[in-house]
Amino acid sequence: MTKSNVLLLVLIAVLITACGDSMSLGALSGQHQVDGKTGLVVRNFDMAQIKRGESVYVANCAGCHGLNGQATPEWRKPGADGKYPPPPLDGSAHAWHHSTEVLKKTILKGTPPDIGSMPAWEGKLTEQQVDDVIVWIKSLWPDEIYDIWYKNFESNQ
Ligand code: HEC
Repeated sequence: MTKSNVLLLVLIAVLITACGDSMSLGALSGQHQVDGKTGLVVRNFDMAQIKRGESVYVANCAGCHGLNGQATPEWRKPGADGKYPPPPLDGSAHAWHHSTEVLKKTILKGTPPDIGSMPAWEGKLTEQQVDDVIVWIKSLWPDEIYDIWYKNFESNQ
């Protein structure tokens, strides 16, 4: 077989696989998977990691940010001390305007006490726990929000 024939065979195989995918879950586009029906990026999160992140969240974050990341409806209004209350993390506020690195830094370092009341978790949570809780937070976001977030921050990596 000539080299170009081999290439052709590989191409055909790839096409067949891609078509098969779009009929079930979604077509592969770049490194991420896209839902065949909605055209939105699919989250291929590890369920075990989401579960671990949920435990970290319930134990450490839910008290301020709400059990489902919904926080309080009044999160846009600064309190009497001039600081903002904990914002929702479920995709309805602006957590999704930040890259994974920025979210990680916010969680590890917190916000400076004169600006906000987000505690620093460095030394209290391991980096792995922080990574897990970020995956849990992302799992809360609506598909459309995750799609925009992904295209802003991850698609060129
Ligand atoms: C004592 C209450 C409190 C706890 C506990 C807390 N947070 Fe926060 N968090 C805040 C406040 C207040 C802000 C907003 C800070 C600001 O406006 O500067 C915030 C902001 C954030 C942000 C940035 C959101 C955005 O829209 O930019 C993230 C992400 C976050 N918290 C995650 C967590 C995680 C994860 C935990 C648990 C490990 C946690 N928080 C625990 C009060 C809390």
